[in-house]
Amino acid sequence: MAARAQSFVCQNCGAAYPRWAGRCDACGDWNTLIEEGAGASPRATRKGRVFVIEALKGETHEAPRLASGVAEFDRVTGGGFVRGSVLLLGGDPGIGKSTLLIEVAAACARKGRRAVYISGEEAVAQVRLRAERLGLTDAAVELAAETSIEDIVATLSRGPMPSLLVIDSIQTMWTQNVEAAPGTVTQVRGAAGELIRFAKRTGAAVILVGHVTKDGQIAGPRVVEHMVDAVLSFEGEGSQQFRILRAMKNRFGPTDEIGVFEMTGAGLREVANPSELFLSERDLGSPGTAVFAGIEGTRPLLVEIQALVAPTNFGTPRRAVVGWDANRLSMVLAVLEAHCGVRFSGHDVYLNVAGGLRIQEPAADVAAAAALVSSFARAPLPADAVYFGEVSLSGAVRPVAQSAARLKEAQKLGFTRAIVPEAARAEAPEGFTLSTVGPLANLVAAIAKDGAPTARRIGRQDT
Ligand code: TYD
Ligand code: MG
Repeated sequence: MAARAQSFVCQNCGAAYPRWAGRCDACGDWNTLIEEGAGASPRATRKGRVFVIEALKGETHEAPRLASGVAEFDRVTGGGFVRGSVLLLGGDPGIGKSTLLIEVAAACARKGRRAVYISGEEAVAQVRLRAERLGLTDAAVELAAETSIEDIVATLSRGPMPSLLVIDSIQTMWTQNVEAAPGTVTQVRGAAGELIRFAKRTGAAVILVGHVTKDGQIAGPRVVEHMVDAVLSFEGEGSQQFRILRAMKNRFGPTDEIGVFEMTGAGLREVANPSELFLSERDLGSPGTAVFAGIEGTRPLLVEIQALVAPTNFGTPRRAVVGWDANRLSMVLAVLEAHCGVRFSGHDVYLNVAGGLRIQEPAADVAAAAALVSSFARAPLPADAVYFGEVSLSGAVRPVAQSAARLKEAQKLGFTRAIVPEAARAEAPEGFTLSTVGPLANLVAAIAKDGAPTARRIGRQDT
C-alpha cells in the first residue's frame, strides 16, 4: 500500500503530520495543526531529463541591479534589486511597510520602469488615497486589488514585463494549485513558490510583504524565508517616528547595513545622517548617559546609551534592557562587580538605547559601562566625549574594528574627545583628544572621582 500523504500542517512552523495532534512536536506550539490538502498527487512517473553540468570556474556577470531611487532602501538591498530576485519585507502591522513600498514603486516608475503594486488587503481607492497624501500621484505606478496568483500572473504576462512587482501581502494571496484555505502555511508557500517562478521566468524583481507575529517572526511561513533571496525587516517603536530597515538575509548583498527613515505626516523621509537624528534630543549634564560611536554596516552611527541604577525595593533587583543584548548587560555588570569594585546588588539596573535603535556590536560595552557607572555614582559624563571598546571578562578593554571611521563621525558631529581602547590611539583625527583606557577599572575610577560623595567609595577595590 502506498504511504498516505501527510496532511496535518503546523501553522507556525510548517511541519507536516499524518494525523492530528494537540501539540506540534517540531516547534512545541499548541493547537496549530490544521488539515490541509494532501499535496500534489504523485504524477505519472517520467524519465529524468539530462541537463548540462558546469564547472565552478566560468564566465560570470555581476548580478544586474536596478537601483530603486530610494537611497536608504538601496543601501540595505546592496545597491538595488537584482533582476529575477524575490525579496520578503516583514514588519509589525502599521509600521509603514505599505507606505515604504508605494514610495519605492513610485521612485521606480519615475525612472521610467514598469512598476506594479498589487494589494490584497486594501482597495485600489485606499492605496490611491495614500499615494495622494504622499504626493506620488504623478508616478506611473500600476495598481490592482487582487488575491489570485493565477490572475495576477496572467495579467502581468500581457504587455511589457514589469521591472518591479509589489505583493502586499503574501498572506492574502492564494493559488488554485494548492488545495488549502487562503492564509494557511501550504497556501502561502504555494503562492510564494508561484511568484518566485514568475520572477525567475520574467526577470522582474518581486517584493512580498509578510506579516509578523507577536513574537516577531514573519507569520506562519518561516519556510518562505528560505525560499526568497532576501529578507528585510522594517522595525521601529510605535511611539517613535524612526523606522529602521534591516536585512536579515541577503543572497546578493550585505546583511549588516541598515536604512533609517523617519515617519512624517507626508510619508517616510530618508535619514541620510542618522547620528544627528539619534542625538537630537540629548539630555546634557545629567548622569547616566554616554554617547556610543558605533558602526552599522559600513556607516558610523552615534547613539546615546542611557542607564539608570536605582536602589531596589524588592528582594531580587531588576535588570531591564531595551535595544541591547540582555546577556551582554549581565556580563558588563559582572565585570564591573568583579574587577572594578562596583556593587550592583541591591540596585535595579535599566539600560536603554535612545531612539529605538537596536545595537548588536560588542563595541558598545565601554559606553554601557560608562553610562552605568555614571548613573551609579551620579557623575555626569563629559558632554563632548564618545565611547567605544569591547570589555573582556578579565576587565581589559579590547580593540574594535573601524576606529578611524567612528572617530571621524564623532568629530563631524562636534565631539572633541573619545574614550577608546589603547589600540585606537594611532587613529585619532587632527584636533581630537583621545583618552585610552587600559583596564576598565581605570575608567570607573575616573568617572567615580567626580561623583556624588556617597558614591565615591566605588572604584576603590575593597579586598
Ligand atoms: P502602513 O504603511 O499602512 O503600515 P503597514 O503596511 O506596515 O501595516 O502605515 C500605517 C501607519 O503609518 C499609520 O499608522 C499611519 C502612518 N502614516 C503616517 O504617519 N504618515 C503617512 O504619510 C502615512 C501614509 C502613514
Ligand atoms: Mg499594509
